Amino acid sequence: MAFSSPKCPHSSSHFAPSRAPCGNLRDRAFAAPASLQSSPKHLLTRLTSQCKGRDFTAVCRQEAATASTTTAKETTPNGGLLTIPSSSKACRDIAGISTREEEYTVSITVVGASGDLAKKKIFPALFALYDEGSLPKHFTIFGYARSKMTDAELRNMVSKTLTCRLDKRENCGEKMDQFLKRCFYHSGQYNSEQNFADLDKKLKEHEGGKLSNRIFYLSIPPNIFIDVVKCASKSASSTNGWTRVIVEKPFGRDYESSAALTRGLKEYLVEDQIFRIDHYLGKELVENLSVLRFSNLVFEPLWSRQYIRNVQLIFSEEFGTEGRGGYFDNYGIIRDVMQNHLLQILALFAMETPASLDAEDIRNEKVKVIRSIKPLQLENVVIGQYKSHKKRGITYPAYTDDRTVPSDSLTPTFAAAALFIDNARWDGVPFLMKAGKALHTRRAEIRVQFRHVPGNLYKRSFGTDLDRATNELVIRVQPDEAIYLRINNKIPGLGMRLDHSDLNLHYAARYPKEIPDAYERLLLDAIEGERRLFIRSDELDSAWELFTPLLKELEEKKVAPELYPYGSRGPVGAHYLAAKYNVRWGDTNALE
Ligand code: NDP
Ligand code: BG6
Repeated sequence: MAFSSPKCPHSSSHFAPSRAPCGNLRDRAFAAPASLQSSPKHLLTRLTSQCKGRDFTAVCRQEAATASTTTAKETTPNGGLLTIPSSSKACRDIAGISTREEEYTVSITVVGASGDLAKKKIFPALFALYDEGSLPKHFTIFGYARSKMTDAELRNMVSKTLTCRLDKRENCGEKMDQFLKRCFYHSGQYNSEQNFADLDKKLKEHEGGKLSNRIFYLSIPPNIFIDVVKCASKSASSTNGWTRVIVEKPFGRDYESSAALTRGLKEYLVEDQIFRIDHYLGKELVENLSVLRFSNLVFEPLWSRQYIRNVQLIFSEEFGTEGRGGYFDNYGIIRDVMQNHLLQILALFAMETPASLDAEDIRNEKVKVIRSIKPLQLENVVIGQYKSHKKRGITYPAYTDDRTVPSDSLTPTFAAAALFIDNARWDGVPFLMKAGKALHTRRAEIRVQFRHVPGNLYKRSFGTDLDRATNELVIRVQPDEAIYLRINNKIPGLGMRLDHSDLNLHYAARYPKEIPDAYERLLLDAIEGERRLFIRSDELDSAWELFTPLLKELEEKKVAPELYPYGSRGPVGAHYLAAKYNVRWGDTNALE
């Protein structure tokens, strides 16, 4: 049976969700005052507070306290132009100033449009949003980079990576053409205010005098973030709507460089304008974590040290750093995956119940739990690096075979760590993280191993290894999304033989609709001004505070990674680390 969204009193179908699952604020139906009834859905999403008993006017008053008027401009320390954040638009509606779809535009500038991420993820995600009707009526997409390209060349480049994700619709080709007609290109330097002023002119032409809202997606190396933000904010900010900047990882290499980056960005932007992407937060099953936990009575009461023996956060890829060795060697797997993707999942998994589903409430809880993690000890960490391996006549390269990687590199391509949260809920429960490249399989999952049943009447049926008889909840983020719970069950028949079986929610079987890519969800959120799935600066600080001492120690002591063959299950050290805490990795079980 499908869930229906929780509704506020008097909810109107006009505001009914266009995207399905409940638990997502954006998807909730909610009542809006009559003055808002003509406004597009996405202008209203931030006003969900009525669902908590607050009225819209109060929200506006609150906003007015922080921003004098909607069209007011603030000046940052360096003279960058700031525009007041999004929900003011809805306040404008309340004040009778209309922002009907006819009257505003959203321009998305992909900075670094010639690069890999833009081609692979950003343009395809924008097309998917267009195809399903989630982009505003008036939108324009600009690619910006130094490479010389015409609009036609950009369109040609982009067209190669667009796919018809949505049910292979018949008119998809037509939709692609329509989409591509709204994509343009501007070539410029990243540190030229003049080049951004030229972009501004072009944007204005496309905006045609309408209220303009602008997004700059920084799909470029981090060392040029500040140059771009400076030029964009001084020369290409919207003067009458909002301006937002999406920032890709990596956000620095350690606490200090990340703090410097944040300081640099904040010379030109306020925190509300910065949307720091961790694309794992946009993955369907990661977003579902809170729903699973907070809206199912069978899980929430079990979510503590009392019933949970250990939690495992596992990321593995079956390919190496092919093509990204230059970038990777400066970062390593701990910075590339653990400090962000896995830590974010851990925070969502372990946080206390937030006061509401508002972005600030959720992020407050995430910061609290990250700060409660005990400092990482070197003896609780194992690092590895893949070496060459020959299998069925094919030779797979070592990490150091990459020409952009020094031959004596100690950069880990694999790491496992045991983390402990120092609070009442999680005292003593090991949270084991494992992340690696060039392993035997591609997967990302969360495994929750529960404790033994006290005085289990059937313990004789399980042999000597009682750990094998405990329940395990697995949330498989990818591939082949699923949530399954391993239980003990009687094998049908006259005897009393037990086995382990899975209660399996297999997404492909249960939900035939294709799951959107994480970038689609995140881009749409950025357009809508929904910050829940983006990283706030204090979250980032706490993540770096946790990992920086460990990273420094590894580098200062020049700890040599344990070598593991390309395509294997990784270094055996990871098994010893788990065994130290009486844990067996769930993904290496014969049962998995
Ligand atoms: P690229 O290295 O492909 O860079 C994107 C564009 O930036 C290039 O096309 C180039 O454009 C410009 N550029 C590259 N290097 C420099 C430089 N040293 N100085 C000035 N401009 C430069 O990056 P990706 O597209 O792979 O990634 C973009 C961002 O996203 C990076 O921060 C990356 O770390 C992050 N990221 C990437 C992922 C991926 O899968 N690719 C995954 C997660 C994050 P031009 O020369 O035309 O100006
Ligand atoms: C990126 C890392 O953030 O995530 C890459 O920089 C990694 O090294 C990628 O391959 C994995 O993302 P996904 O969505 O393919 O699992």
